[in-house]
Amino acid sequence: MRKFLLDFADTQRTRGILARGSGGIMEKFIIQGGRALKGEVRASGSKNSALPIIAATILAGGECSLGDVPRLRDVDTLAQIMQTLGVSIERDPDGRLRTRVMNPDLSFAPYELVSQMRASFCVIGPLLARRGYAKVSLPGGCEFGDRPVDLHLKGLRALGAEIEIEHGYVIARAKRLRGANIYLGGPAGSSVLGTGNVMMAACLAEGQTIIEHAACEPEVVDLANFLNAMGASIEGAGSHRIHIKGVRTLEGCAYDVIPDRIEAATLLMAGAITGGEVTVSNIIPAHLEAVWDKLKEANVGITRNCKIVSVSQSGRRPTDVEFSTLPYPGFPTDLQAQMMSLLSLGDGASVLTDNIYPDRLKHVAELKRMGAKILRVNGTCVIVGQPRLQGAPVMASDLRAGAALVMAGLAAEGETEVRRIYHIDRGYEGFEGKLCSLGAEIKRAPDERAEKPPAV
Ligand code: EPU
Repeated sequence: MRKFLLDFADTQRTRGILARGSGGIMEKFIIQGGRALKGEVRASGSKNSALPIIAATILAGGECSLGDVPRLRDVDTLAQIMQTLGVSIERDPDGRLRTRVMNPDLSFAPYELVSQMRASFCVIGPLLARRGYAKVSLPGGCEFGDRPVDLHLKGLRALGAEIEIEHGYVIARAKRLRGANIYLGGPAGSSVLGTGNVMMAACLAEGQTIIEHAACEPEVVDLANFLNAMGASIEGAGSHRIHIKGVRTLEGCAYDVIPDRIEAATLLMAGAITGGEVTVSNIIPAHLEAVWDKLKEANVGITRNCKIVSVSQSGRRPTDVEFSTLPYPGFPTDLQAQMMSLLSLGDGASVLTDNIYPDRLKHVAELKRMGAKILRVNGTCVIVGQPRLQGAPVMASDLRAGAALVMAGLAAEGETEVRRIYHIDRGYEGFEGKLCSLGAEIKRAPDERAEKPPAV
């Protein structure tokens, strides 16, 4: 298996699918802080749209051509899984990703791959619907909690799948799925990938499916639009009730994924924390209403246009705010860490609660090493804003925590080293390149002190 993966990685690298930093060499960022960012950058295509959309190409009868799929480690990981599932996947010279099912008999997604990225669990819905059988590893927990998949399985069972769990694998079987009314609410509200998984499976089910308490995130709408472009019949995506009329087959199609709202907001917040002036293009401002609202309340200057948003902070410190993360259209958990960095330099005490992932707070201890004053009780933090942060060696615990530490390093006095940046490479395309184009001073360097890298 390992040899296969290494051969696969070599093939993909020559085909140009693999993102920077995917080679398994541990790297770190060295940041010289204190430069106000200035200029314009373009947000890439959305990671969290692209991943389930790539998985959904398992459903297609013909070739799919996907535009604006970002070059990321997570996309590479999913590409490896798609190959093991008999789907060819290549990058065209113009950057589009082309997929085609070559061998529909392969329905096994191994632990070695699925455990690297939880989003890969969303191959199970398409495999079951199209091939009648799937054996997919349970993804396991991650840095910010248990992250169960019970809602995914509940939805697939409601569609008539027989599901067993054996030795860490979910084995799902169904001759043909049947439409059903499915309530998908969980303890923290709706599930983004749970909704996506069930929606993909229901597209080829017999009859009508209604998903109640569906997730409303723009990435769910993007997936529904892609499935409809393949010939599915889905209405109501973006609301809590999604109607799906099952169809017999789906065809290949050409589709462009939406801009990455989390990356766009991260870049703008990086502008704000350095007291700079940054414009981000290729953004859909309506996808981030809760974020604009909180930034404005914190006295961050925001102006928005049709597909462009600018931040202008000219040296001002943000003021204190209180906020909680919530499912869309609430404030996204994927921006909680970045907002915490920003408020660490605020004028006043802010209160933040992560309702989606109360344990997604490993960056608190790292920010404190840089001089931030943060008190944590369970999923709630009080951030007492400081006039300055100091550069220090810190470690990224997940993708968004890594981005938050880079932001803090950009604003801090002196040098910051951010280690374990493979987390950042999972989800931010050309992150340091974009920030350097705005005037940041960030160098990528090998991390000699790092432990052995994870499997590619
Ligand atoms: N949950 C359950 N049961 C389930 C599934 C989820 O109880 O079967 C709970 C989770 O534990 C959590 C809440 O429901 O408390 C929401 O989780 P959700 O299922 O919506 O998360 P996800 O679909 O696995 C996606 C994003 C995450 C993002 C969350 C929340 C992708 C690939 N991932 O994950 O993105 O944080 O939605 O918005 O779309 C990131 O990009 O950094 C990232 C982690």
